[in-house]
Amino acid sequence: MTDRKGIILAGGSGTRLYPITIGVSKQLMPVYDKPMIYYPLSTLMLAGIREIAVITTPHDQAQFRHLLGDGSQWGLSLTYIAQPSPDGLAQAYLLAEEFLDGAPSAMVLGDNIFFGHGLSQIMATAMARPAGGTVFGYHVADPERYGVVAFDDAGKVREIVEKPSKPPSSYAVTGLYFLDGEAPARARDLAPSARGEIEIVSLLETYLAEGSLDIQLMGRGYAWLDTGTHGSLLDAGNFVRTMSLRQGMQIGCPEEIAYAAGWIDADRLRDHARTFAKTDYGKYLADLLA
Ligand code: TTP
Repeated sequence: MTDRKGIILAGGSGTRLYPITIGVSKQLMPVYDKPMIYYPLSTLMLAGIREIAVITTPHDQAQFRHLLGDGSQWGLSLTYIAQPSPDGLAQAYLLAEEFLDGAPSAMVLGDNIFFGHGLSQIMATAMARPAGGTVFGYHVADPERYGVVAFDDAGKVREIVEKPSKPPSSYAVTGLYFLDGEAPARARDLAPSARGEIEIVSLLETYLAEGSLDIQLMGRGYAWLDTGTHGSLLDAGNFVRTMSLRQGMQIGCPEEIAYAAGWIDADRLRDHARTFAKTDYGKYLADLLA
């Protein structure tokens, strides 16, 4: 089987964060002590994915390259792809078609933060499914804001309803999608929606129609945060600070994940610790070596 590749969708217009995001990409905003994109990057790394495409607007690409480089500092290979205009989440599969080259993928939205015990395990289940797709459902207080899952009697996904006024359940589909190698071809057949976007829900529906869409539910022990508004961005920063100070463990630390996975050695980790020596982040990395 071809190795699964990753996609981080970090373009968009970020209009809900104006005026902050007029000059800077949303996914470069700080979430407490690190740039937002570190979190979705870490999620893909926790799934064991090392070959990752970062999709950004054309004008933000240089800053992402400056921040993340070619990924070798974390034992990764990063590719940059420009999205000329924000024409929908499923457009990512068209833009990344050449990069994917037939491989299955895991796509994460650049403003989604996942945290919780067992995250690697539920992603491992999704990683192990070569055909079809897997999405993750999360219980939310305000399902009408999201794509919401309707379940059948057997607990399987019957339908995904985008921003329903009467939600069929409280489970929102999160911004993490594991799809097989057919996703780009399927995306090509989709017509843009009324709002002019190639919709991820439409792409998922093609899998649903065949009965090949699996859903993994993230239970109470998980946090799924999206950071697209001023309030949610601050909440996410406070969450990361509270959890990491209390536990003495980092959230979204690519160096730690790479070291634990054996993708970088102790010397490389020491280099990182030195770079960040004036921060608690650097002290944390140094402690990992001790
Ligand atoms: P959204 O939050 O739906 O859109 P946005 O980031 O443009 O923000 P706003 O609604 O405030 O204008 O996007 C979710 C994520 O997907 C976010 O990380 C940006 C990314 N995205 C793209 O990269 N390309 C796209 O075409 C779209 C629609 C989103």
